[in-house]
Amino acid sequence: MKNIHELSSEVEQRNGSLGTGPTKGEGLLFLKAFLKNPSYVGALAPSSRYLADAMTDYPWVFEAKTVVELGCGTGAITECILEKIPSTATYLGIELDGDCVKHLRNRFPNRTFCHGSAAEIKKYLADMGAGSPDVVISGLPWAVLPQELQDGIISEVVDCLAPGGKFLTFAYLHAKIMPRAVRLKKHLRHCFGGVEISKPVWKNFPPAFYYICNRPNARNGC
Ligand SMILES: C[S@@+](CC[C@H](N)C(=O)[O-])C[C@H]1O[C@@H](n2cnc3c(N)ncnc32)[C@H](O)[C@@H]1O
Repeated sequence: MKNIHELSSEVEQRNGSLGTGPTKGEGLLFLKAFLKNPSYVGALAPSSRYLADAMTDYPWVFEAKTVVELGCGTGAITECILEKIPSTATYLGIELDGDCVKHLRNRFPNRTFCHGSAAEIKKYLADMGAGSPDVVISGLPWAVLPQELQDGIISEVVDCLAPGGKFLTFAYLHAKIMPRAVRLKKHLRHCFGGVEISKPVWKNFPPAFYYICNRPNARNGC
């Protein structure tokens, strides 16, 4: 049986071959967070650079004034967001795991990371005096989040997005048919004003795809 260090080194090697991948030690930090609380981390490894790049390679990211990231983990998608948004843009990251938050604050010292739940986006935005986000990017593990929490987070996103704003969130291909994932897709279609599904990102481990959701004109009960 492999110990945690052997397992995390395999994960780091695997992600290292999938683009830039996590920096040394991030695989271990991520795995520790997973072992501490598998039901809210929901993955064994941080996202690859391929997935992070694909999710952030849109004009509305390059032109954003305010961006919120939900479930930042060790910063795999954060890195791409911060490379692409204008230097004058406001960024807010929200992450539930305390050790990941410490790591994010060290890795990106000039950016704001709140230690708490994605269900409180509006409160954190108000605390930092930020306006409505043009883009919300999520790395949350929807397939393992309870339905009530999923709905609460989506309601916050719908409520806080700026006019014309976008919500992007990824999911793993293998989990596509899980009941919570199926329900999430239906709920996104119900709550947003149009939902696009990306091509699969095969080079991610595990392969993933993402939803691009447009802010709706009306709340539709969400
Ligand atoms: C699948 S990991 C993705 C991490 C990172 N975005 C990536 O792509 O590598 C999910 C992350 O969401 C965080 N998380 C889970 N539930 C959350 C919640 N309600 N609010 C904020 N973060 C949450 C977990 O702690 C974990 O870091």
